[in-house]
Amino acid sequence: MVESVTTRNPTPRARVQAMKEYHPPLGSRDALRLDFNENTLACSPKVREVLGRISAGALTRYPEREPVEAVVAAHLGLAAAQVALTNGVDEAIHVLFEAFLEAGDELLLPVPTYTMYEVYASATDARVVAVLAAGDLQFPFERLIAAVTPRTKIIAIANPNSPSGSVVTRAQLVEIANRAPHAVLLVDEAYFHFHGETVIDLIGIVPNLIVARTFSKAYGLAGLRIGVLAGPVELMRWVKRVLSPYSVNSLALACLPPALEDTAYLDGYVSEVLEARRDFEAALDEAGIRRWPSQANFILVDIGPQHAEFVRLMRAAGVLVRDRSSDPGCDGRVRITIGTREQMRQAVAALNQALATLRAGKEAQ
Ligand SMILES: Cc1ncc(COP(=O)(O)O)c(C=O)c1O
Repeated sequence: MVESVTTRNPTPRARVQAMKEYHPPLGSRDALRLDFNENTLACSPKVREVLGRISAGALTRYPEREPVEAVVAAHLGLAAAQVALTNGVDEAIHVLFEAFLEAGDELLLPVPTYTMYEVYASATDARVVAVLAAGDLQFPFERLIAAVTPRTKIIAIANPNSPSGSVVTRAQLVEIANRAPHAVLLVDEAYFHFHGETVIDLIGIVPNLIVARTFSKAYGLAGLRIGVLAGPVELMRWVKRVLSPYSVNSLALACLPPALEDTAYLDGYVSEVLEARRDFEAALDEAGIRRWPSQANFILVDIGPQHAEFVRLMRAAGVLVRDRSSDPGCDGRVRITIGTREQMRQAVAALNQALATLRAGKEAQ
């Protein structure tokens, strides 16, 4: 028999104890999902075919990342040693921060932006230096440059950015990389397909540039968890030291080549979303709702003090949208993913109904 001698629980690192809990509002999402910027339809049917053919025997083997890395590298016009497949871009961010951020270092972050940069940085011993966008939520270029210090180790920029949908120009990104040659510039192109501009061709030319791409958005593979990090070999070799050889599972690896090959499916989905975005912008303007220009598959709108009630009314009407009020500079703002034109017609009907209900409630007061 083992005698229990434990008097207190083992304590995690102080930085981990100080971390805020982060629970994305998942759970009972059986509705029109305009809350997580996913593909709102499906992945390519070619991916489904490949999934259906995977044998039970194949699942007994550990996944082999490298052959698929070579396929992805060729697709991106890069060498295999310049890319690493990861368990979603989230893992890419995690391993990059793990590899580069140490005590005293600074992560420079224009905000508001994607939440996980701060989550993963707060688990390291580095300091987060946030640079707030102005009220128009445009990229704070001058102030970001001014915030570079000798301690800046990583600058993380989502382009297009979430939740604002704003973009940074290629010239600005190159300028940032040049002004901080001692830091890694991470450009997260999660929403690349809806914007069409990239700096991935500058990998190896701009020596401190690393680019992330996800297959969770336009490709419709969020459930498989797969993303790619691309950068110069001299930087990627450190990332690969930290990365588990098995973190991308064999189903995701099997599905990636057919997803990449089916460009007709991807292009069709993207052009549908871009048309739906134009229609939705017009509907928002007609409803008198302030919106921010977006180059991604979502739009940030200003609902004002009744944001939480608006989100609740939309949910009651079967449409999930994301309250971003607690993001820096986003009080009263809600982010709405763009799906197909038909789905957005449903969203507009729910939105107009919710606004009418809110107005009627105000008048009754
Ligand atoms: C800017 C940005 N990067 C990365 C991700 C996450 O990508 P993944 O699903 O590949 O982890 C998101 C998801 O919302 C995002 O908005």
